[in-house]
Amino acid sequence: MRIEVYFTPLAVAPGEFAGRSVAVVDLLRASTSIAVALAAGAKEVLPAGTVEEALRVAQNLERDQVVLAGERKSVRIEGFALGNSPREFTPEAVGGKTVVLTTTNGTQALLAAQGAREVVVAGAVNFSAVVQRARAALEATGELVVLCSGHERQFAIEDAFAAGRLAKVLLPEGGLRRVALNDAALASLEIARHFGEQWLRALRASRHGQELMALGFADDLRVCATQDSHPVLPVYADRRITAHRPAPEG
Ligand code: MLT
Repeated sequence: MRIEVYFTPLAVAPGEFAGRSVAVVDLLRASTSIAVALAAGAKEVLPAGTVEEALRVAQNLERDQVVLAGERKSVRIEGFALGNSPREFTPEAVGGKTVVLTTTNGTQALLAAQGAREVVVAGAVNFSAVVQRARAALEATGELVVLCSGHERQFAIEDAFAAGRLAKVLLPEGGLRRVALNDAALASLEIARHFGEQWLRALRASRHGQELMALGFADDLRVCATQDSHPVLPVYADRRITAHRPAPEG
């Protein structure tokens, strides 16, 4: 059994994830916003790499069926209906709609994961749903990749913390002796050990978390840190993210 963590999508080569299951993490805030949007009844989320691509994709859809969302430098893109604050993805704003989303790091990580056997979007808000699916993937294929989005093309402590939380919960009895981990996974476990189960403490300790607080998004950190508040499993396939509602664990 093998769990590998990637701290950023930058080193991912095309086709590298073929046949493997990948959990993409962008705790602050794209993963969280995607889970919240789907839990709020959005039909689907279409990740776009650039603002231009988002506009192009939206133009090909019925105007009243699409919501353009995204950020650059953490603030809403001019002309877009929504930014990337999970608090904006309400049933009134996105219910029944296609959300076209472009963010600085999160959507880039999703695009890098294309071609994998399965790609799920992981946050604290849907943690148990992701654990359940990741466990099934490990049983089926013997391996799991956790792809962190990072921040501004660099390591982000909050994503590594989430990766460590996932790895810790997934370790079978017998722990490290029975699972092969890469160094990024081992480091993530250390970060998870440092913060324990305190998602909010990890978010507040991160550079990106501090930037968001300075921009007036402190409440977003609380949303992003609330474990299992939105128990939905976003699955990314054929360029779209849709909700799978997992059965309760028995
Ligand atoms: C990103 O994709 O870089 C983030 O989600 C940025 C943000 O906090 O909006």
